Amino acid sequence: MSLIILKIGGSVITEKGSVSKARKDEIDRISREIASFEAETDSGLILVHGAGSFGHPQAMKYLNNGFNAQGVYLIHKSVKVLNSVVLDSLADAGIPALPVHPLSSCLLENGKIVDFELGQIKLMLGRGIVPVLHGDMVMDSKLGAAVLSGDRLISHLASIMNASRIGAGSDVDGVLDNRGAVIKKITPLSFVDMKKNIQGSTMTDVTGGMLGKVSELIELAKKGIDSRIFNASRKGMVSKFLYSEDVGTLIAGK
Ligand SMILES: Nc1ncnc2c1ncn2[C@@H]1O[C@H](COP(=O)(O)OP(=O)(O)OP(=O)(O)O)[C@@H](O)[C@H]1O
Ligand SMILES: [Mg+2]
Repeated sequence: MSLIILKIGGSVITEKGSVSKARKDEIDRISREIASFEAETDSGLILVHGAGSFGHPQAMKYLNNGFNAQGVYLIHKSVKVLNSVVLDSLADAGIPALPVHPLSSCLLENGKIVDFELGQIKLMLGRGIVPVLHGDMVMDSKLGAAVLSGDRLISHLASIMNASRIGAGSDVDGVLDNRGAVIKKITPLSFVDMKKNIQGSTMTDVTGGMLGKVSELIELAKKGIDSRIFNASRKGMVSKFLYSEDVGTLIAGK
């Protein structure tokens, strides 16, 4: 069975300029695009969603004075609200899906994933269920707890799960050059020069925006695994990605 790993950015499914505002219509549209694809294939799918306005502003607010359990809980609780909206929408579209919360299944050391419980994800995939993960606060052996971005999650999962297709849908047409044109392909080599044109997010953001995303996927490309960054805010693009069309920017080993 081939495996697809898809991240839908918080920039797509939430209003990143607000606090805790979900874009229900967008979530429902994406659920329907996934449902049509799922009805036609037997590929496994792991879905990861970003935290958007349910995580970035809360992380800024509650982690100002460093690690504390109450802050971690409030951020986690907030992201879980968004996760429930996504799960409800998938259920309405007829997709069997279950949540997997990184706080309860993952360990970090200085922000790097050192342990990830895959048992439940594999069992879900084996039964045709879509595991739905999200950016989260995670216990960290050096820092107490740290933010684990959805971008880092997909990079990690892709490298250990032998995925055939990996994508990050965001609110831009791909990685843009200094004139605003979509860069067709980025490799670890070309990234060295391109880096200066790739920035964080213009909104409240604690995981490095586009530069953070490309950096995570470049690490994956170094292991020989390709991925794509594309615009999931545009109708039909998630579907195109799932059906293997060459959307957005390809992040490749060479
Ligand atoms: N060179 C670039 N090309 C494309 N986007 C860029 C570039 N430099 C900076 N950006 C910004 O990065 C943003 C996308 O990153 P952001 O982290 O906000 O989205 P996301 O990962 O989809 O959301 P979340 O982090 O909530 O999951 C774009 O909206 C854009 O403003
Ligand atoms: Mg991001």
